[in-house]
Amino acid sequence: MSREDILQQLQFFRDIGVTSLSIEEPARPMAKPSAPSITAKPTAAKHPADTLPIIREDIGDCQRCKLAPSRTNIVFGSGNINAELVFVGEAPGADEDEQGLPFVGRAGQLLTKIIDTVEPGKMTREDVYICNILKCRPPNNRNPEPDEVLACNPFLKRQLAAIRPKVVCCLGTFAAQNVLQSDVTISKLRGKFFDVDGMRVIATFHPAYLLRSPDKKREVWQDMIMIGAELQRLRS
Ligand code: URA
Repeated sequence: MSREDILQQLQFFRDIGVTSLSIEEPARPMAKPSAPSITAKPTAAKHPADTLPIIREDIGDCQRCKLAPSRTNIVFGSGNINAELVFVGEAPGADEDEQGLPFVGRAGQLLTKIIDTVEPGKMTREDVYICNILKCRPPNNRNPEPDEVLACNPFLKRQLAAIRPKVVCCLGTFAAQNVLQSDVTISKLRGKFFDVDGMRVIATFHPAYLLRSPDKKREVWQDMIMIGAELQRLRS
């Protein structure tokens, strides 16, 4: 982490009203422990494991919905394939469409700082996996439409099943309502855990919303503390 990164991180803490920080024990490795080396006897015919490269290959040069003609790049997702924590956003914006990577614009820079508050000094953006509900940019960043979500959702489900994170954090109304299959507002959904397909799912405000409403940063910080505590609990 450069001096500039540290100063920016401290600025973020100051913005959300943190006045003191403490230094804790060194980090535990983020990677999941490898499987025990006992050779298990196969009991029944098993499906080959689904992996992120296989899922990306299945998406191919996707033409499944009407976003295909206007996109520059498919934004599949990026990060640690063994992540304990996955962030799910809404859809790529202009920068993401251009680079083919999620959360690389202004909202993404803020997300990087937010991730640093989950387990300060232990977890960074490289430890998590980041993806979106939609893999292609909606024109002019309009809201995703139901047919687009329907076409793209199986890939998100497969990504989550392949990574098997302990915790999923939905960023913003759209991701939260889709992952949680709810029509409740983000203000009501955030700040608590739900169980979905064996994962603990929490929602928080979208970083793009925080850029417009910085007073909401404190709630996001509280949500990140909850995630840190839940990860600790699930590891022990
Ligand atoms: N907003 C999102 O929801 N996802 C991105 O990848 C970028 C901005």
